[in-house]
Amino acid sequence: MDKPQLLYLSRSDVEKTGLDMATIIDLLEKAFLEKGNGRVEMPPKPGIHSRPDAFIHAMPAYIPAMRSAGVKWVSGYPGNQERGLPYISGLLILNDDETGIPYAVMDCTWITAYRTGAATALAARYLARPDSQVAGILACGVQGRTNLEALKVVFPLTRAYAYDIVPEVRQRFVAEMSERLEMEVIGVEEPRRAVIDSDLVVTSGPILKHPTPALLKDWLKAGGFGSAVDFDSYWHPAAMQQMDKVSTDDMAQFMYYRSVGYFQETPDPYADLGEIVAGLKPIRQDARERTLAINLGLALDDMAVAPEIYRRAQAKGLGVQLSL
Ligand SMILES: NC(=O)c1ccc[n+]([C@@H]2O[C@H](COP(=O)([O-])OP(=O)(O)OC[C@H]3O[C@@H](n4cnc5c(N)ncnc54)[C@H](O)[C@@H]3O)[C@@H](O)[C@H]2O)c1
Repeated sequence: MDKPQLLYLSRSDVEKTGLDMATIIDLLEKAFLEKGNGRVEMPPKPGIHSRPDAFIHAMPAYIPAMRSAGVKWVSGYPGNQERGLPYISGLLILNDDETGIPYAVMDCTWITAYRTGAATALAARYLARPDSQVAGILACGVQGRTNLEALKVVFPLTRAYAYDIVPEVRQRFVAEMSERLEMEVIGVEEPRRAVIDSDLVVTSGPILKHPTPALLKDWLKAGGFGSAVDFDSYWHPAAMQQMDKVSTDDMAQFMYYRSVGYFQETPDPYADLGEIVAGLKPIRQDARERTLAINLGLALDDMAVAPEIYRRAQAKGLGVQLSL
C-alpha cells in the first residue's frame, strides 16, 4: 500500500491559488445553508491562553455536503505587532472524510482574513439594502481590507469612508484600496464621519473584554447595515439596541462568549446566518430597517474554503508533498 502523503501549503502557496472573493462568498453561502438545515458538525472552539488577551483556538468542523473535515489551530497575540510579527497565525489541517487520514496542512492566515470579509458580505446579502452604495470602515487593518473587498463584490459601491486611530495606517489604506477596488476611498479623522453617510458600516478594531465603544446611537442611518467583526468593542449598547435586527453566525457560540463576559448589553440575536440563508428566519423587511451582523468567526467558514484551496493548489502544482 502507498504511504499516505500530505500536501503542505505555505501562506504564499495559498495566495497563489488565486481563489477570488466572489467564489469564497458562494462557498460560505453553501456551508451556511447546510448549517441552517442542521447538516454540519461543529463543536465549540476550545482554547488555551498563554498571555493576557491572547488565544490559541482549535476550530474543528465537518460539512458532509462539501466532503470537508478538518481543524484550524489559530492564534491571536496582540503584542506581536511590536515584534514585527503577525497578530494572527496558524495552521489548518484537512482530513479525508472516509479514512480520517490528513491530506493537507496549510497556513491559515489568508483564509482567516478572506473568509471573515466574505461572512460580512454574505450577511449583508440578506440583511442590507441591495442598492447600498457607500461603505464605512472603522479600523483599516487586514479585516478592514477584506471586508471592503467582499462588500464591493456584492454591492454597487461607489465610495468608502475609512477611519483608523493611526493616521498613517488610514492613509495607506486609502491609497491602496482606492487603487485596488477602483473606487473613491476617503480618509476621515473621526469615527462618526465614517458612519453617518454610509449604508454599510464595518468595525474591525481590537476585540476588548472591557471596551469603551465609540460608535453611538443614531449614527447609523435608517436603512443601514452594520457588521461588528470586533464583537461588541466598537458599537455602544444604545446603538445596538436601536437595531431592528441583530444576527450572529452561531447562536451557541454567541451565548458562550456572553457567558465569559462579552455581549453583556448586546440585544439577543434574532437568528443565526445559517437560519437566514436557509430561509428559516426573515431577511430585511423594508428599506428603513437598521440591521447588525455580529459574526464571531466559525470553523465552518474555514472548512468551506480550505478544500477549494487544496483543489486549486493541486491543479497548479503548488506546495510540497510530505510523508505522514
Ligand atoms: N469575527 C471574526 O470572525 C474575526 C476574524 C478575524 C479577526 N477578527 C478580529 O478583527 C479585528 C481586526 O483584525 P485584523 O486582522 O484586521 O487586525 P489588524 O491589526 O490588521 O488591524 C487592526 C487595526 O485597528 C486599528 N485600531 C486600533 N484601535 C482602533 C480604534 N479604536 N479605532 C479605529 N481603529 C483602531 C489599528 O490601528 C489597526 O490598523 C481583531 O479584533 C480580530 O480579533 C474577527
